[in-house]
Amino acid sequence: LSRIHRLVLVACGTSWHAAIAGEYLIENFAGVPVEVECASEMRYRNRPLEKDTLVVSISQSGETADTLAAIRGARDLGIRTLAIVNVVGSTIARESDADIYMRAGPEIGVASTKAFEMQVLLLTLLGMALGRLRGTLPTAQGRKLVNELKTIPRKIQQILDGDGHILHIAKKYYRCTDFLYMGRQINFPIALEGALKLKELSYIHAEGYPSAEMKHGPIALIAPDFPSVFVVPRDPVFDKNVSNMEEIKARKGPIIAVATAGDKEVARTADDVIYIPRTSDWLYPLLTVVPLQLLAYHIAVLRGCDV
Ligand code: BG6
Repeated sequence: LSRIHRLVLVACGTSWHAAIAGEYLIENFAGVPVEVECASEMRYRNRPLEKDTLVVSISQSGETADTLAAIRGARDLGIRTLAIVNVVGSTIARESDADIYMRAGPEIGVASTKAFEMQVLLLTLLGMALGRLRGTLPTAQGRKLVNELKTIPRKIQQILDGDGHILHIAKKYYRCTDFLYMGRQINFPIALEGALKLKELSYIHAEGYPSAEMKHGPIALIAPDFPSVFVVPRDPVFDKNVSNMEEIKARKGPIIAVATAGDKEVARTADDVIYIPRTSDWLYPLLTVVPLQLLAYHIAVLRGCDV
């Protein structure tokens, strides 16, 4: 790993969203360039790869055909491959030079939930490990992050304990036919994932966008029956996100916000707020995705879908 000068993360669906989070995490901790490729695009593309590149595939099942084809293509060029997979002994795991197993347990349906959590966690740890190797992540900062990681299970439990409030919000919005999900920086892929969960479970049209990109088109759709879901924890882009929320409000669009516990400013603009415990800026995705998974689940059940 110390000889790697570039990482290419390749995946599909939910795993692709985890890869986008991984890009922010690894570049921040390790200062190494990371690119994310959608496997179905990479496999048919004539993509130059330098020898000091590491191709990292991410897959819950370890069997997704496009992801497998993309890593086979890289291997044919003599590029080293690392797989982050859940299913032990799966084809992607067997055909890669090295594996990191998620050990999330079996996913019951196609919709990855706990596997997504593990993908983001492992990409955080990979970024931290690379940062330590390359000297870009000081020991004290690394220790602080590890200590904070240890609090994440308890904080997820707190979110799960507040599920009744998420069900209440689901009851308010489940008849809507369109949703927009927005977030910035490391919570942008969480917006993508929230939208994917909603469409894949409940068959409702939903799109994920970087918060500010919303004004370059999607804002035209905003109306009183078109809710926006904002991922807006107290991080360095908080104020920017709030000004995007105000733009939605000016067009009378309802807002559901995922915000940090005790944040009164968000409650002034949003119609409904789901609070999550405070954590480090870089670990928020591990928490912010959970209420979006629960929201998609409840909306799907209310619409009579077999989750
Ligand atoms: C798709 C599923 O077929 O495969 C998605 O509908 C999933 O939910 C995607 O995220 C990728 O799967 P895997 O197993 O490679 O992570």
